[in-house]
Amino acid sequence: MSMLKDIQKVFFSKEELEAIARRLGSQISRDYENRNLLIVSVLKGSVIFMADLMRNITIPCKIDFITASSYHAGTESSGNVSVTDDLSVKDVHGYDILIVEDILDTGRTLQKLSDIFARKGANSVTICTLLDKPERRDKSVKIKPTYIGATVENEFVVGYGLDYDQKYRNLPFIGILKPEVYDNTNAQEETH
Ligand code: IMP
Ligand code: MG
Repeated sequence: MSMLKDIQKVFFSKEELEAIARRLGSQISRDYENRNLLIVSVLKGSVIFMADLMRNITIPCKIDFITASSYHAGTESSGNVSVTDDLSVKDVHGYDILIVEDILDTGRTLQKLSDIFARKGANSVTICTLLDKPERRDKSVKIKPTYIGATVENEFVVGYGLDYDQKYRNLPFIGILKPEVYDNTNAQEETH
């Protein structure tokens, strides 16, 4: 059965998401000219955005992937973040790292990843997030995203990489699910 029956409302259409990738891609291409850009996609949520964004970046760059996991209960993140699959680049010295993320919620995941890359000696670490939920930011979080696709209210969104219970990532747009689809009772280890 189609996933579309579970969607309550579309927030960002395919065309709007393409426009975001174009805007941020050209901004990044300007800002990183003559630098040593390494784009790090946080799996799995950022894959679709990453694929669109990198095709809009016109300067030479390398790409890499990292997997961060945290214990989730339904739609709430606990803040216990760990790296489960590390970069294939072993020495980040000299790289200007741009972390590409699907959504910045409490910010704990990106705080942790930024700290790790800075400690390992990256030349610089900046963040490009497709969506930002500033209202949800944890007080302990100090990082600020340099590139933001769009800001969203405190609502749980799915599609274009973003999941609920690992599903709906393959929707070509971003939207919210009908309330009856959410079941917050399932605690689980979740890959972002
Ligand atoms: P943070 O560490 O709380 O910032 O968690 C960010 C991660 O939580 C994202 O990479 C997503 O995997 C997940 N997340 C937060 N908000 C949403 C949402 O609205 N929809 C889907 N996933 C979300
Ligand atoms: Mg997720």
